[in-house]
Amino acid sequence: MTSSNSSSSSQHPHRLRKAIIPVAGLGTRVLPASKAIPKEMLPVVDKPVIQHVVEEAAAAGFTEIILVTRSAKSAIEDHFDVHYELENELSRKHKQDLLESVQSTLPEGVNISSVRQAKALGLGHAVLCAAPLVGDEDFAVILPDMLIPDLPGQGADLTQMVAAYRQHGCGQIMVEAVAEDKVERYGIVDCAGQSPEPGNCANIVNMVEKPKPADAPSNLSINGRYILPARVMELLVKTEAGAGGEIQLTDAMASLIEEGGQLMAYTMRSKSYDCGNKAGYLEANLVYGLAHPETKDSLRALLKSLA
Ligand code: G1P
Repeated sequence: MTSSNSSSSSQHPHRLRKAIIPVAGLGTRVLPASKAIPKEMLPVVDKPVIQHVVEEAAAAGFTEIILVTRSAKSAIEDHFDVHYELENELSRKHKQDLLESVQSTLPEGVNISSVRQAKALGLGHAVLCAAPLVGDEDFAVILPDMLIPDLPGQGADLTQMVAAYRQHGCGQIMVEAVAEDKVERYGIVDCAGQSPEPGNCANIVNMVEKPKPADAPSNLSINGRYILPARVMELLVKTEAGAGGEIQLTDAMASLIEEGGQLMAYTMRSKSYDCGNKAGYLEANLVYGLAHPETKDSLRALLKSLA
């Protein structure tokens, strides 16, 4: 990987092993599907969205997953737990493949824990709820709405971003260019006018949460993958409500830059699919379905016949 505009730090960053996954959202954009099932449990091909995300985190080397959850979402924790009754039954019937699939929902070597976010006060607040489990370590934040498929032969962007964190010794935020009329849906970063090439990163000089198109410093949107220094957790404590009346992670990261901290924007090489809305969820099912050995042929034939 190459990079531009980096003032790399010689200090070796803290051990990076914890990933916070906020799952306390109400899922209003995918109702009524998410009325009784957490939206994170909706399947993309044969696994719930959350399992794809936990596997992405594990592949990037994270071994401690911290869910920030709330009432009515215990199906997510159950999914990663042992299901004795089902496992006994599958074992008794010698359904080995199915047994393995239910026993491997949590990747080997990964621990999962959860904390509650009692009030929906924003993403920054959700991340802060995990502070007692994160301690003074650097950490990742992974938004489970966004699915980011691996590029064949090139590995995952999150894995690449961890490499950039180690190389430059500073936080990394994954970004993706969006159409200018869509900037007000996202956090937008300012890399002093630069737009790093896919797979590369550049220093961020400022960032703003959900700007109006006229006020946006660029069209580089934050797309749900962050590797952050421990200091951000301290800054979140002082962060007041911002855009939409919510405590914004973007504002805490902007404070870090303001006080002289370094954060870089890593431009993804793949494409993200937002499973928190209907079109993105359908697209994700098509893309993952076309890559899955059991479904790719019939799906390709269907798409051909429809075309
Ligand atoms: C959150 C972040 C935003 C980011 C977005 C990505 O917003 O606050 O900076 O661009 O996720 O999906 P939300 O979608 O929760 O409103």
